[in-house]
Order: sequence, then structure tokens, then C-alpha cells
Amino acid sequence: MRRRRPPTVSKFFVGSKLALTAIILVLLQTSILLKQAEGQNVSNIATGGGIWELLLTNAGIPSMHSAVTRYGSVVLLDHTNVGAENITLPGGKCRNTTYDLVLKDDCYAHSVLYSPTTNTVRPLTILTDTWCSAGQFVSDGSLVQTGGGYEGQQKVRIFKPCSTNQVCDWVESTTQTLQFPRWYTTNQLLPDGRQILVGGKAAFTVEFLPSNSEGLVKLPFLQQTNDFEDDNWYPFV
Ligand SMILES: *[C@@H]1O[C@H](CO)[C@@H](O)[C@H](O)[C@H]1NC(C)=O
Ligand SMILES: *[C@@H]1O[C@H](CO)[C@@H](O)[C@H](O)[C@H]1NC(C)=O
Ligand SMILES: *[C@@H]1O[C@H](CO)[C@@H](O)[C@H](O)[C@H]1NC(C)=O
Repeated sequence: MRRRRPPTVSKFFVGSKLALTAIILVLLQTSILLKQAEGQNVSNIATGGGIWELLLTNAGIPSMHSAVTRYGSVVLLDHTNVGAENITLPGGKCRNTTYDLVLKDDCYAHSVLYSPTTNTVRPLTILTDTWCSAGQFVSDGSLVQTGGGYEGQQKVRIFKPCSTNQVCDWVESTTQTLQFPRWYTTNQLLPDGRQILVGGKAAFTVEFLPSNSEGLVKLPFLQQTNDFEDDNWYPFV
């Protein structure tokens, strides 16, 4: 399994799993967030490129996808089947891990919400594998997140963001499911408010979410571009 660059359209970034303690580097856009971070400046403001500063040394998880919500909070997403994280689920909860590849008892959070106002993270509840999944914000500001590895390949997950004094969490749908197992797929919002899900690893079709009874639509181009370099993964849409 490999990490690939997710689609630019979904505002996700691929992070690094090299460190046990993940760091959040946020490109500062407001002076409110400016803090003295000794020796952490990377680029030069004089070039007009902004600056990077280290805000938090331990986010609890290494982030595979990150997405900024309309409240300015940041959803960070790792995946299950990865073993221990550095943050546990709230209230002593644990996942039912009969299918987990690494842990018998998985009491760790695999997603967190970062708040720039408090400079803290809190654990979110992701129960299925989001490895190389895809996501897109929809018109009500919810983040709709689909597919991934293993038990997550056909999952649809929704995160409805909330303000800092409220509690919101992932909801993994029990009614909606993808028609085809998808990872390395690109999700794009359509004018009618639905998403089109394009391709993915060994997926030479598109589908719509919600499907409104439309089935899989073959896209031969995806098969034609299915080369050893995986050039058809996370297609640009
Ligand atoms: C980081 O860059 C800002 C803007 O140029 C500067 O004010 C600050 O002193 C720098 N901090 C460090 C630790 O270099
Ligand atoms: C997170 O890491 C710190 C520092 O290594 C450690 O003290 C703490 O127990 C860890 N927490 C979890 C939940 O793993
Ligand atoms: C745990 O998952 C297994 C397999 O999906 C299921 O059979 C079992 O009922 C679940 N147990 C609980 C407590 O949810």
C-alpha cells in the first residue's frame, strides 16, 4: 500500500507518518494565530510566501488528510488498522476490533479536530479504515468522506462541523454505501449538490453520491491509464 497525493479539489493534503508524534504546521493567515515559535520559521515573509510556524508538537495522530471546516477548525484523519495512536477515544470507548489487523483492543482515536483558537486537539470517532480514502465538503458545510482500505472500502462518513463550544463527531452511515470498493478515488461536488466519485485503485467507473438510483458508469479512460506508475489514482477532475 502506498500513500498518494489526494486530489487538489478536495482540499486535502497528504501528511507524513514518519514521526510518532505528529506536528501540525498551519500556514498562518491571520495575525491572531501568530505565536513565537523559536527557530521554526521555514519560509520568508519578505518573498510574499507567508511563514510556517509550529503550533502544536503533538496532534495525537499523524494526519493523512486534513481539511479546514467553515468554523476554522481542522479535521485530521489517519486510518484504522494502524495500531496505537497518541490519543484515546473519549469516555473510555473502544472500537469493536474483531476485524482490526493490528490491535485486539483499539481504544485509540484515528481522527482528531484541531482548534486554532484553543490550540488543542480533541479525539473524533472513526471506526472504519480511511486509508487512501477521499472526501469533499458539500453545500451545508459537512465533510463527506468515502472509501478507504479493508472494512472501510465502501463506507460513507459524514462530519458536520460545529463551533468550538459544541461537540460534533463523525457519523459513519449505516444506510448509504458506495456501490464499488474505492480507494485513491477523486470526489468532486456537482452543481446539483451531489458528488461524482471518479475511479480509484482498480476502479474503472464513476458513481454518484447520493446515487439517486444511478448505477456505476464505466469510464474506459481509467482502464487505459491503469499503468505501473498508478497514473490513474486520485485522478485530477
Ligand atoms: C519568524 O518570522 C517572523 C516574520 O519574519 C519574525 O518576526 C520572527 O522573529 C521569526 N521567528 C523566528 C524564530 O525566526
Ligand atoms: C502520548 O505520548 C506521551 C509522550 O510520549 C505519553 O506520555 C502519553 O502516554 C501518550 N498518550 C497516549 C494516549 O498514547
Ligand atoms: C463486533 O463485530 C462483529 C463483526 O462485525 C459482530 O459480529 C459483533 O456483534 C460486534 N460486537 C459488538 C459488541 O458490537
